[in-house]
Amino acid sequence: MAKQLPILFLSVLFFTVSVNAQDLVKGKKIYETRCLACHQADGGGVPNMNAPLDGSSNVVGNNIARLVKIIKGGYSEKIALDGYYYNNVMTANPDLKEEDIANVLSYVRTSWSNKASKVTVAQVQAAQRKK
Ligand code: HEC
Repeated sequence: MAKQLPILFLSVLFFTVSVNAQDLVKGKKIYETRCLACHQADGGGVPNMNAPLDGSSNVVGNNIARLVKIIKGGYSEKIALDGYYYNNVMTANPDLKEEDIANVLSYVRTSWSNKASKVTVAQVQAAQRKK
């Protein structure tokens, strides 16, 4: 048994790593179909039009509930985001499942220069209970 332990450990590790990567692959797909047209492939947005997601203090911040609300319901508050205003109206995504929201938020929080934690389905559920 002792001999098999390292193999068991490695399999669990491999499984965990591949499951994690899978979330980001799914998140990227959602990003490409639903977000890229406005926020761009590099997450840089479009000046005065669409807010950047790369480097946004809100995107990498701890207010997950706010992010979930924006994805589901869209966003056009026209308040300054890191000092700048954006005129376009972000469309809502009411049909996205909790898992999809967790995956796309995980993708944007860990892509480009963003190095924040991923978002779990449990966090998305907790965020929705809050509102
Ligand atoms: C039609 C264009 C459009 C699409 C599509 C779109 N967004 Fe947005 N998004 C915007 C605009 C415009 C804003 C800023 C609105 C404002 O400031 O009033 C914004 C803001 C945001 C913010 C808040 C940023 C901050 O710094 O607080 C997040 C997060 C976000 N979008 C994520 C996404 C994700 C993820 C998707 C895909 C599921 C998406 N958006 C799809 C246009 C879009």
